[in-house]
Amino acid sequence: MDLHRALYTTRMMRRMRPDPVPLEAQCRILDAAIRAPNGGNAQRWHFLAVDDLALKQQLAELYRECTEREYAEFAAGTLAHTLHDPDEHAESLRRIMASAQYFIDHFTEIPLLIFVFSIDDHGGANIYPAIWSLLLAARAEGIGGVLTTVLRYEEEQVTQMLGVPTEAGWRMNAMLALGYPRGRWGVASDRHPVHRVASRNRWGEYFGATVDRPLWNDDNADA
Ligand SMILES: Cc1cc2nc3c(=O)[nH]c(=O)nc-3n(C[C@H](O)[C@H](O)[C@H](O)COP(=O)(O)O)c2cc1C
Repeated sequence: MDLHRALYTTRMMRRMRPDPVPLEAQCRILDAAIRAPNGGNAQRWHFLAVDDLALKQQLAELYRECTEREYAEFAAGTLAHTLHDPDEHAESLRRIMASAQYFIDHFTEIPLLIFVFSIDDHGGANIYPAIWSLLLAARAEGIGGVLTTVLRYEEEQVTQMLGVPTEAGWRMNAMLALGYPRGRWGVASDRHPVHRVASRNRWGEYFGATVDRPLWNDDNADA
């Protein structure tokens, strides 16, 4: 697959088919993920695959509760990453919430969950390259997914449930849900353009170019 296709179209796919993800594909995805850069090459990461129905049922309930807690914080205006212009983001938020609801309602049908743990994640910097590589590698297999962090509200319960040796310093970074998507991948076009989020030589100074639309699209794809 063309690298730019993967970079531009690896959206979060919350609507998935229940078909299992073959073990060989899981191996390829994780084998790509562990090539990611990490501080000092210490590789203090662990990927825990969950496909057991009874576990998924318990996690589904927790996920629903955690999402409700996040929405409550959201409504109270105390979630840092929601401190954006609500009018500008209304449509985007509406779409995220609709697909998030579908995801919750069909949680037990998700074929594969991968919980990602690390020790000393350096504010996430030490683990997110591997997480993003994992999602890109899944994309190359035609497998979609969603990166979630909402279970952090119940991290203790989740780590107990999964037998994580937290006493050794292991912390949960994310839960990745993976499966074959029901929809099609499209370009993530709902992003602020480069000239709005970049500057040159001094914060806020004109970057030097205006980029009005995504510089890659299906027409110039080679894969
Ligand atoms: C650190 C992080 C945490 C996220 N947590 C969740 C989550 O808990 N649940 C969820 O449905 N999506 C979650 N997302 C996915 C974002 O909502 C998604 O990337 C964003 O809405 C943009 O959509 P797109 O990636 O499909 O373009 C998370 C993404 C990141 C990077």
